[in-house]
Amino acid sequence: MAQPLPQAEPLLKVEALVKHFPVRTGVLSRVSGAVRALDGVDFTLAAGETLGIVGESGCGKSTLGRVVLRLIEPTSGRVSFAGQDLGQLDAVALRAQRRAMQIIFQDPYSSLNPRMTVGQTLAEPLALHGLHRGRERARVAELLHTVGLAPQHALRFPHEFSGGQRQRIGIARALAVQPKLIVCDEAVSALDVSVQAQVVNLLQDLQQSLGLAYIFIAHDLAVVKHIATRIAVMYLGRIVEITDKRTLFAAPRHPYTQALLSAIPLPEPGLKRDRVLLPGDVPSPLSPPSGCHFHTRCPHARPLCSQQAPMLVADEAADSDHAVACHFWREISAPAVIGSARVDTPAGQRLARLQSAFRVQAEVA
Ligand SMILES: Nc1ncnc2c1ncn2[C@@H]1O[C@H](COP(=O)(O)OP(=O)(O)O)[C@@H](O)[C@H]1O
Ligand code: SF4
Ligand SMILES: [Mg+2]
Repeated sequence: MAQPLPQAEPLLKVEALVKHFPVRTGVLSRVSGAVRALDGVDFTLAAGETLGIVGESGCGKSTLGRVVLRLIEPTSGRVSFAGQDLGQLDAVALRAQRRAMQIIFQDPYSSLNPRMTVGQTLAEPLALHGLHRGRERARVAELLHTVGLAPQHALRFPHEFSGGQRQRIGIARALAVQPKLIVCDEAVSALDVSVQAQVVNLLQDLQQSLGLAYIFIAHDLAVVKHIATRIAVMYLGRIVEITDKRTLFAAPRHPYTQALLSAIPLPEPGLKRDRVLLPGDVPSPLSPPSGCHFHTRCPHARPLCSQQAPMLVADEAADSDHAVACHFWREISAPAVIGSARVDTPAGQRLARLQSAFRVQAEVA
């Protein structure tokens, strides 16, 4: 398994995390296989830090967020929060720890009760955890103010708000219990770009004033780049590369990261990156390829790649926290910058679809 990355006293430590969803078929609902949503994930997160998680749809991002928060049980592996192994806690202790870990979803409307006023929605977690007894209304007004809404909004129902305002309500609900960590699962993905920026700015302001740590999950690398301190790239249930965002954009080491980043336009007119072409589509997590999951599409694959899964390891010689899961990263150079774009081929068009999932603007580290 991957070695833990060097980090002083992490708030969150995830070790060898695996989540398989059984697949049942037939009238007897026999287990016929498993979706390997998480296939051995390791990372750490410091207090007040933001880790961005990027990867295509279905690569296991949401599952990771939910297993970390213990909303679903892992198949194996360990999640430690503030030094405590969550798997070892009894129900009471787990509930107390869960208070410190909250989640914000993509669609706040579906997670807000349409029949409850915003004030009732925000008062609910206070009552559940016995917080601010006797001054709940004042606390609700304070929470609304914190997320840029007005006290009178407490009397309104979710349908009376815009998408951006609803996401603010979702953030206020998460903040109600004074968490240390918030998982933002595609929290701004459904919002218009201008509203996205406002909510991202709000999250950053809250991080500064409250010392929050975020796991920021998104398929849009541009948004992640804006908010994250470090970025983890996932492919078929595994982290293939993790490092600080500047290093990731300037010197990606994993061939998959290189392919994703090769779609970024360069600021200089007339210059384009050598767009990396990957054959085929992402394989099914029901039967991921042996060894390195990426070997069926990797332009650098060799026989060892299908035989042995590469570990996510940092470059110890360089004393770096840039970890990559590739047997041959030292021999692979990042794609060159060239003077003209490559001619599109069917494979290139498939890749363009893949890369368009990472709608990255002309912003280069
Ligand atoms: N409750 C579930 N039961 C069965 N399969 C699931 C369940 N939740 C997620 N999956 C599968 O696990 C894989 C990872 O899903 P998910 O974590 O939602 O990916 P992402 O958030 O990156 O799009 C997908 O193949 C998905 O279909
Ligand atoms: S281990 Fe092999 S297949 Fe996997 S990314 Fe590296 S070179 Fe490609
Ligand atoms: Mg998801």
